[in-house]
Amino acid sequence: MSAVVPKHVAIIMDGNGRWAQQRGLPRIAGHEAGSKSIERCVQACLDTGVQYLTLYAFSSENWKRPALEVNALMLLLENFLNQKRDEMVREGIRLHHIGRIQELPSVCQRKLREVMDATAANTKLHFVLALSYSGRAEIVDAVKSLVRDTAAGTVSEADITPELIGSRLNTAGMPEPDLLIRTSGEMRISNFLLWQLSYTEIHVTKKFWPEFEKADFLAALEDFQSRSRRYGGV
Ligand code: IPE
Ligand code: IPE
Ligand code: MG
Repeated sequence: MSAVVPKHVAIIMDGNGRWAQQRGLPRIAGHEAGSKSIERCVQACLDTGVQYLTLYAFSSENWKRPALEVNALMLLLENFLNQKRDEMVREGIRLHHIGRIQELPSVCQRKLREVMDATAANTKLHFVLALSYSGRAEIVDAVKSLVRDTAAGTVSEADITPELIGSRLNTAGMPEPDLLIRTSGEMRISNFLLWQLSYTEIHVTKKFWPEFEKADFLAALEDFQSRSRRYGGV
């Protein structure tokens, strides 16, 4: 058992709706409560030395939800960025996004840009929000960019390698996740980081996202440390 701290932890933050339902609350109360779990995970990353934290905050498929819930989620995002901006600057946290953020309300796009600019020089923790994100859409966009470059003659067929494809994804320049955590017990990927999760260790907990404590994050790190990563070797 090695005590290696994963460099990159990705989380599918699931179960907000069921958490709220159990308490007779509207789904959005679950999303609000989930913000606290984000704070706890960020703190745990700062404490343990995890360098990249990627959170699945809103998938391309989540646009199918009722407008009331979608609007509330967008407002939560805006408020979260407003409230956390100064703390992120102070704590050395750099904000990034992945996903088609051009699909978000313009106020959210502006806020994201503002906080990304304000934190651009930070290096302690890379905090990556997946917003209007779909792993397949990301690969489609990468393929389109390669086709354009092939047509323009700047990329040839022989140039197309896993590294080149990786460099055209939204996660270009980031290490692949070492550990994926999913809350609320579902054993699926739900279109998250399809390319990047090839050799990621997966930890699923039955706890709903708003119940996810720092101790649960540390338990996931411990689980990760008990794994033997072989990458197809022996
Ligand atoms: C995760 O919780 C948050 C988002 C997908 C935005 P859900 O809203 O999916 O909660 P459940 O899975 O319905 O309980
Ligand atoms: C995945 O959760 C997306 C996010 C956590 C943002 P979902 O609740 O949308 O996934 P499914 O529908 O259970 O696969
Ligand atoms: Mg869900």
